[in-house]
Amino acid sequence: MSSRLAVLASGRGSNLRALYEYLSHPPRSNIAQVALALSDHAAAGALDFARLHDIPTGPIEGGTMGADKLLDQLYSHRIDIVVLAGYLRLVPAAVVHAFRGRILNIHPALLPAFGGAGMYGTRVHAAVIAAGARVSGATVHFVDERYDCGAIIAQWPVPVLAADTPQALAARVLRVEHALLPPVIVAVAQARIKLDSEGRATTMHLPNMDDTDFTIDSLDDAALQAAISFALSA
Ligand code: GRF
Repeated sequence: MSSRLAVLASGRGSNLRALYEYLSHPPRSNIAQVALALSDHAAAGALDFARLHDIPTGPIEGGTMGADKLLDQLYSHRIDIVVLAGYLRLVPAAVVHAFRGRILNIHPALLPAFGGAGMYGTRVHAAVIAAGARVSGATVHFVDERYDCGAIIAQWPVPVLAADTPQALAARVLRVEHALLPPVIVAVAQARIKLDSEGRATTMHLPNMDDTDFTIDSLDDAALQAAISFALSA
């Protein structure tokens, strides 16, 4: 049965779009579907995209009632997997607990570096450049009760170029995010990736460029070279 995804987004929603488009065609559409889009910003582009594609939408509220209302929405839409795609708030512990191993986040840097409270958007890329890092990237990880700390599932390296501005680096990383997140969600929906009893992802991997052949443990030289070439090919 197709896994029902809730996507939580605070802004533009390009990762929501990438995920939606990736899941639009069989056989992937039989594996997972975007069933709900939620945002803490009523004007979020993510909500506009969802409405345009007949995806049910809803608000995310803060405060003590926020967790209960969020859980109610997730349960009433029979959500199996929660995807944080550009969601800036901390997810309430009760929601993390209810969806442990079924709640994921994408972060625009190579965690555990350049993550944590306040590390979002352009700030991440500005910090990477200020630190003189030569490599950044995208990370998909399981969500725990802290910002950007849950078990890492997949990472995709992106070179930092000498003339990079935070905006230029953000655009290079975003393109890779769009390629990385959807196949990871499919792999989690298929239970090919799980959170194990030690709190680690069962495997770490890089999706093959040809997503019909999603490779596991492919962090060899050839896979890294292909990943870097993809990052620089825009
Ligand atoms: C992405 O870079 C994501 O990694 C970060 O916020 C950005 C959201 O972009 N957490 P979008 O809303 O998916 O376009």
